[in-house]
Amino acid sequence: MIAAYSASSQARVNAALDTLFNAPSPELARLYEAMRYSVMNGGKRVRPLLAYAACEALGGEAEQANGAACAVELIHAYSLVHDDLPAMDDDDLRRGQPTTHKKFDEACAILAGDGLQSLAFSALLDPRLNSADAEIRLHMVSALALAAGPAGMVGGQAIDLGSVGLKLDQKALEYMHRHKTGALIEASVKLGALASGRAEKDQLKSLQTYAQAIGLAFQVQDDILDVESDTETLGKRQGADIARDKPTYPALLGLDAAKAYALELRDQALHALRPFDASAEPLRDLARYIVERRN
Ligand code: IPE
Ligand code: IPE
Ligand code: MG
Ligand code: MG
Ligand code: MG
Repeated sequence: MIAAYSASSQARVNAALDTLFNAPSPELARLYEAMRYSVMNGGKRVRPLLAYAACEALGGEAEQANGAACAVELIHAYSLVHDDLPAMDDDDLRRGQPTTHKKFDEACAILAGDGLQSLAFSALLDPRLNSADAEIRLHMVSALALAAGPAGMVGGQAIDLGSVGLKLDQKALEYMHRHKTGALIEASVKLGALASGRAEKDQLKSLQTYAQAIGLAFQVQDDILDVESDTETLGKRQGADIARDKPTYPALLGLDAAKAYALELRDQALHALRPFDASAEPLRDLARYIVERRN
């Protein structure tokens, strides 16, 4: 079920994203090409899938979440372009291809990331992608800004880079992961739910509990895969965290305890979905997928 659901959702978000990278003038061709390269290069599209699945869990149509799905993937793609830069993780391979600064150059990669961040907010406000009423769209913009910014993903990245070579305790590691990865995953679910136009307060609360658990689980699994996967499967260099002495869950707890923790988080997420009926099945499948994935 997850395979069919993810294939149709990936096709839906890719079609919407594909419309966003047409340069308005020849002078901007290279910048737009770099943005397109950074987004349309594969990627599992987990965040868009979560947005669609949350919208459907509340009885909305997936299409209603197109703006949300594009916005969270654009923020994610920008974060990866900058994360791979020499000043940050200094990685050469992403999604099985040269990273944006390798394919283009560093300045172009920085600007492409900046551009993608702005495009994310435009996508959320584009009436062709988001037909929710103005008040809901405002709520979505504010949630995305909070999650992507210094109190969310950017803050987590700052802690990550400031922690290289340090021994974080589990509380500090969790705080970092909840920010650098969890915040955008939480926003993906929230934006999708809001896009349905039917989100009730108690439903948003349950979805938030779900999203916080899988958001943390997602980065725990990312850390695990850095240890036990391979570069070919990952599409990014295996062992990069170890080589850079990054604080990770396997480094702190050991591989087995990190795996057990990921499963515990999955169970917490599934528990939070108890009030929902079968329309939340894609969200349940995604919780399982996040801790079972091999790339
Ligand atoms: C990788 O994210 C970076 C993290 C936040 C852990 P994904 O594993 O979702 O990467 P893509 O989008 O599939 O390439
Ligand atoms: C990246 O974390 C998180 C963000 C880009 C916000 P990582 O540095 O672990 O991601 P990968 O492993 O390079 O994909
Ligand atoms: Mg990083
Ligand atoms: Mg990285
Ligand atoms: Mg990683």
